[in-house]
Amino acid sequence: MSMPAVLLVCLGNICRSPLAEAALRAAAEQAGVDMAVESAGTGDWHVGSAPDPRAQAVALRHGIDIAGYRGRQVQAEDFHRFTHIFALDSDNLRQLRRMRPAGGAAHLGLLMDMVPGRAGSSVADPYYGDDAGFDRTWDDVTRAAEAIVAHLSP
Ligand code: 4NP
Repeated sequence: MSMPAVLLVCLGNICRSPLAEAALRAAAEQAGVDMAVESAGTGDWHVGSAPDPRAQAVALRHGIDIAGYRGRQVQAEDFHRFTHIFALDSDNLRQLRRMRPAGGAAHLGLLMDMVPGRAGSSVADPYYGDDAGFDRTWDDVTRAAEAIVAHLSP
């Protein structure tokens, strides 16, 4: 099997999916698993932007610097480039299903479907909330990252 390539997708690509990217990169590295990991948003408002300062802060509290990440929007070619595309919530999953080009072979699913007991659930959008919301996001994406690494390890 070729190396897994995982794309994590939320709405803005400045809160949830950059945290999921950071958590998955860390989990793969810790497990010694080779995996390409990126994140993107279905929306275009934050293309080229750094992650939300609150997202940067929660990642840094867990020892990971994401200040250099930049927002980008999902592209049709992502469905060819990546082996797995995970949406952080069901709205974005629906949007991705609409975007999928003919022949785009990436497995498409909901991120939390990877976590036992959390199937069908969305990672709540912390953008309009407080710092505690970002801690909850970190907990969710960390659990998902560990499950993905376990699932995609050779
Ligand atoms: P994200 O959070 O999808 O987790 O990156 C959001 C960031 C920005 C907006 C919405 C959600 N926005 O509407 O600008």
